[in-house]
Formats: sequence, structure tokens, C-alpha cells
Amino acid sequence: MEITKFQEYPLPEKVGNGKESNVFRISNNHAAKTPIIPHEITLKNLEKEFEIAKILFDKGISVPKPEGIFFIKYDIHFLKSFIMEYIEGKNGFEISNEEYSYSARLWREELERARGLGFITYDSSHAGNFIWSPKKEKIYLIDFEMWEPMREIWK
Ligand SMILES: Nc1ncnc2c1ncn2[C@@H]1O[C@H](COP(=O)(O)OP(=O)(O)OP(=O)(O)O)[C@@H](O)[C@H]1O
Ligand SMILES: [Mg+2]
Repeated sequence: MEITKFQEYPLPEKVGNGKESNVFRISNNHAAKTPIIPHEITLKNLEKEFEIAKILFDKGISVPKPEGIFFIKYDIHFLKSFIMEYIEGKNGFEISNEEYSYSARLWREELERARGLGFITYDSSHAGNFIWSPKKEKIYLIDFEMWEPMREIWK
């Protein structure tokens, strides 16, 4: 497995604090989602999230472009991480009411499209699980660890 291919910032900037993972900006264009405790379950979920992100991206759903699972260097440690496109913007909890009323509509539409492909979108009602990009005037769905695909999607 490749190591730190995407890492340009020697000290990645933390952009998200989750319960099980942290999200870091590791370069101008890339973010890394890194399990806080890299045990069997969290690493399996990371792989699952990458697989789902790939399907969504390939089917034209608005998600950060998935790049792969790589080891990223933090301080003296190398930690397995899901690397994706970094989105300049704010999550649904961080934006103003005006931005929310517009972006939440796009968010719902994108989720409907993902459900139409056969995904059960557990955990998606959490406003921290979409990013609003004012520059592109679009939203990006993130955080697919809890999603479940119906069997035929995997084929
Ligand atoms: N590709 C990205 N580009 C920019 N910011 C991101 C990206 N991915 C995640 N973030 C930021 O990190 C936050 C946490 O991401 P995510 O929801 O995937 O992690 P999580 O560990 O599942 O968090 P939680 O447990 O809070 O749901 C997001 O709300 C967002 O602010
Ligand atoms: Mg989340």
C-alpha cells in the first residue's frame, strides 16, 4: 500500500472532529478521514466508506472525489486513511440560516437520488454530513460508513 502519496502539508490541519474519525486537510486538494482508533471494525468501515463513495461518484452523485485508502504520516505515526477531494466550504451545521434554506433543499434532492440507486442512507439526516460549497453553489454528501447498499449495487 502506498504511503503519503497525497500528503503535501507536513502538519495536516484538522477540519472535522468525529466520534470515531478525524478529518484532516492534507493538501490543497485532499482531505483524509482517519479512524481515531485503528481497530478491525473502524478500518472495515473505512474500506466500506471508500467503496460506497466510489459507486456514488461513478453514478454522478455529488460527493468528494474518492482517491483511495492510504497511510498518512501524522507526526511520527502512519495512520490508515480514506483520501478524498478536499471541499472548500462548510458543513450544514456551520452555515447561516439563509445558506441552509437553499442548500438543505439540494441536500434532500441528492439523498433522494442516492436512495433511488438503492442505498439505505442511515445517518444522513445529520447536517454535519453534507458540505455546502458557496463557490460552486452545490452540496456534497459525505460520511457513508453507516449506509447500506442493496445487494445488486455491489455487482
Ligand atoms: N472532503 C472533505 N472536505 C472538507 N471537509 C470535510 C471533508 N470530509 C469531511 N469534512 C469535514 O469533517 C467533518 C466530519 O466528517 P465526517 O462526517 O465524514 O466524519 P465522522 O467522523 O463520521 O463525523 P461524525 O461522527 O461527526 O459524523 C464534516 O462535517 C466536515 O466539516
Ligand atoms: Mg459525520
